[in-house]
Amino acid sequence: MRRLLATLVAAKPHGRIAELGTAYGEGASAMVAALPSDATFVTVENDPERFRLAAQRLAGTRAEMVLGDWRELLPERGPFDLVFLDAGDAAESAALAISMLAPGGILVKDDLTPGRTSDGDPVRQALLGDPRLLACEIQTTASTAAIVAVRRSP
Ligand SMILES: C[S@@+](CC[C@H](N)C(=O)[O-])C[C@H]1O[C@@H](n2cnc3c(N)ncnc32)[C@H](O)[C@@H]1O
Repeated sequence: MRRLLATLVAAKPHGRIAELGTAYGEGASAMVAALPSDATFVTVENDPERFRLAAQRLAGTRAEMVLGDWRELLPERGPFDLVFLDAGDAAESAALAISMLAPGGILVKDDLTPGRTSDGDPVRQALLGDPRLLACEIQTTASTAAIVAVRRSP
């Protein structure tokens, strides 16, 4: 996932990039290391202790760190060219995350179990079935998969 995120970040030279859920800064460190000089990166975490530890890890980088609920803080700052949806219930928040994407913007969701269909899976239904997106699922390790989706242009 670190390599996938870094690759997608590098593909957005003037990109506005957001991570929803920083945790301890593992994904953020990979993304900010690949950040093009004209791109920006913001990551939001609502757990104060995780935020503190991630801030230590990301100190001195170009990551903008925000403490709080991304659902309240980020939509007004959009649209974004790349969104890593990695906080809370993805099925519940997928529609809001998609609404934050610019046309051509990419949404990434990881931590899926490979080899399953959308039947009975609200996360896959929300992302693979949304008409605003062109989406695919890729296997990232032997036991994990991710969805990579692009917001269609009008
Ligand atoms: C799976 S972890 C994130 C992992 C991180 N993106 C990485 O790649 O290393 C999910 C994090 O999202 C945070 N979170 C959950 N709901 C949130 C919300 N509404 N706003 C901001 N952060 C949230 C949790 O506290 C948790 O630290």
